[in-house]
Amino acid sequence: MQTKIIIADENNLQALAEPAKAVADGKLVAFPTETVYGLGANAFDESAVKNIFKAKGRPSDNPLIVHICDKNDVGKLAREISENAKKLLDAFTPGPITLIFPKNKDINDAVTAGLDTVAVRIPIHPIARELIRQSGVPIAAPSANLSGKPSPTEAKHVIEDMNGRIEYIIDGGACSVGVESTVVDVTGEVPVILRPGGITLEDLQEIIPNSTVDPHIVDTMLPNEKPKCPGMKYKHYAPKAQVIVIEGKTEKVHEKIKELTEQYKAEGKKVGVMLKNKNDTSGADYVLFAGETNREYAVNLFSYLRDFDEHNIDVILAEFEETGGMGMAVKNRLYKSAGNYIIRV
Ligand code: TXA
Ligand code: MG
Repeated sequence: MQTKIIIADENNLQALAEPAKAVADGKLVAFPTETVYGLGANAFDESAVKNIFKAKGRPSDNPLIVHICDKNDVGKLAREISENAKKLLDAFTPGPITLIFPKNKDINDAVTAGLDTVAVRIPIHPIARELIRQSGVPIAAPSANLSGKPSPTEAKHVIEDMNGRIEYIIDGGACSVGVESTVVDVTGEVPVILRPGGITLEDLQEIIPNSTVDPHIVDTMLPNEKPKCPGMKYKHYAPKAQVIVIEGKTEKVHEKIKELTEQYKAEGKKVGVMLKNKNDTSGADYVLFAGETNREYAVNLFSYLRDFDEHNIDVILAEFEETGGMGMAVKNRLYKSAGNYIIRV
C-alpha cells in the first residue's frame, strides 16, 4: 500500500477532506492529537477496527479509545454517564483525558476487546477535532506506533512505523503534551486513574477531591495478572537500547551516571545519557536534555528514546526525580521503557 502524507495546519483544514472521507470509508488514517499521534478508523466499522490491530501488531485483547469532538456525543457511546463523569467532562474536555464508561450495545467487541466498558476521549487538537467532524463518525484510535515501540509525537515517527501499512498520515507537527491521555475509570464511586497522563492526579482532585490512582501505577513491581487497563500489562515504550533509570537527587545521580558510563564503555557499549539539565559530566557518547520539569520531560521522552535508537546507542542512562504532577506519567513510561531496571541512589 502506498501511504499518502498530508501536511495540515490550523489554517489549512480543508486538506483533511480526503483523509476524513477515507476514515468514513473504512480506511486507516494517522493523525496528530495534543498527546501523541493516533491511528484512526471508523469506530462503528468492525473490519476497519480489526485492521488497526493488524497494522500495529497489537494484541486483540487490548481495547481502543474512541475519539469524538463533541461532549454531546458521549451518550452515543456510553450507556450511563455518572455525576463524577459529568464533572470531569466539564472540567477537562476537550483535552488530554480519557474516561471509561459502561458501553452502549452498538459498540463492537473489536473496539472494546469484549469488555463491558468503552474508553472515550475528546481531544483538543484542532486537526484531530476537524478530522472527526469531517468524517462524521467516532474514531477508534490507539497511539500510531508499532506495538511495543515508543508512542509517536511527530509525523516522522509515524512514517517510521506505519509507512506502507495505512492509507494516510496527516502531518500536523509535534504534539504538545508528549505522553498519552490520562485514563480515568468513572464507573465506580470515586474516579480512579488507570493510566497517568496529560491531566494529573492533582488536577482531578481539584474537581473531585477523593480521586485516586490504581495501585499498580504507583508500585509498578506489584504482580498484575488482570490489570483494569489491559494495555498496561504489555512491554511498552521500549527502544532497541536497554534503558536504565537512575533516580534520586541530581548530584548523586550524576555521579552514578558517570560511573556506569565508564563501565559500559569499557565493555565496548555505546552509551546514551538523558539528563534533566545541561550540566553533563558523564563522558557518554550521546547526551540529551529532557528538561528541568517533568512537564518538559514528558514532551521530549518518547521522541528522545527514538533518537537514541537512531544513534545506535546500546545503553540509555536516564536521570529521573519524582516530584508529583506530571512526574507520575513520566515515571510510568520511563519505568516501562526500562522494563523496571531502576537504580535508586
Ligand atoms: O492520548 C491518548 O490516549 C492516545 C491518543 C491517540 O488519543 N491514545 C492512546 O491509545 O494512547 P492506546 O491504545 O495506545 O492506549 C489506550 C489505553 C490502553 O492501555 C488500553 O488498555 C486502555 O487505554 N483502555 C482502552 N479501553 C479501555 C477500557 N474499556 N477499560 C480500561 N482501559 C481501557
Ligand atoms: Mg499506545
